[in-house]
Amino acid sequence: MLQSHLEPAWVDAFHAVLSRCALRPGDTVAVLCESQTRAELPALARFAAARIGCQVFEICVPTPFEAGPPVRSTGASTALQQMAPVLAALASSTLVVDCTVEGLMHAPELPAILKGGARVLYVSNEHPEALVRLVPDDTLEPLVKDHVKRLRAAKAMRVTSAAGTELDISMTGATCGGNWGYTSKPGTMTHWPGGLALAFPGAGCVNGTLVLAEGDVNLTFKRYIERPITLRIENDYVTRIEGTGVDADLMRSYIAAWGDRDAYAVSHVGYGLNTAARWDSMALYDKRDFNGTELRAFSGNFLYSTGANEVAGRHTRGHFDLPLRNCTVTLDGVAVVDNGKVL
Ligand SMILES: [Fe+2]
Repeated sequence: MLQSHLEPAWVDAFHAVLSRCALRPGDTVAVLCESQTRAELPALARFAAARIGCQVFEICVPTPFEAGPPVRSTGASTALQQMAPVLAALASSTLVVDCTVEGLMHAPELPAILKGGARVLYVSNEHPEALVRLVPDDTLEPLVKDHVKRLRAAKAMRVTSAAGTELDISMTGATCGGNWGYTSKPGTMTHWPGGLALAFPGAGCVNGTLVLAEGDVNLTFKRYIERPITLRIENDYVTRIEGTGVDADLMRSYIAAWGDRDAYAVSHVGYGLNTAARWDSMALYDKRDFNGTELRAFSGNFLYSTGANEVAGRHTRGHFDLPLRNCTVTLDGVAVVDNGKVL
């Protein structure tokens, strides 16, 4: 494992990202942690906010532990538990640096925090070395905005690959978005690392076959796929998981553990745009030092996810994020990703 005492370069990286959030001296920065937060992250956030001249405070809430299968990779922190005084403090801050383990992206409390005018920056639960490598530059924001615009304009997305993927996604009624790792606009949320354009499709919009080939990734397990898995998808739901070996067995076992049909349905679809993010980085970190946002964002991956999708009216705690390499993604017949390369 890498050593985790604080390094000047890590403070510089937090300073760079907080500066891109347009903080000014005197602004109020809330650093939100839970008891299972990686300890370096809130410390770095406090140092960087202080360097800018902000007023900074930290709130630490207990990490809830619930019965059932371990929850991973949902982006829906349960740490806030609707605690009204905590929500009031966060909502009235200029910036919330979200250092919860899962992040507030899909937490039920997020709308109330944003409504207060706060902006929220989720710092993914990564080793700071990875965050340093993925400090956003000037090129990422316009690139992501351009692709979000294309997603919003599209009626149909089609995804194919030499491995056998053939997926048709109707974009009618989809909610599209993207992020680039910082935000300066009150009432918005982002995450660092960023570099992703995605859509939450409406109900009954996804059909076809998704083939996870060797080297594709199941980020819930933090494993590269070693033996192919074929997912048959009908009206959003995975109806068959075909394949032999540990990868397919793990997938069948964990998804069934929820006892919830909606765990089989599509959550979001999209693609990565971050050229600084590396596909191979998961091989270089211990699991406890790695949350996988880099692999969601690496340029040209097609990201398919199962689980909760508010747009389609589905709520579940089972969630797979599956970045695929070497796919071609077209929007209304126009390729945006060609064989794993962003066009
Ligand atoms: Fe996801």
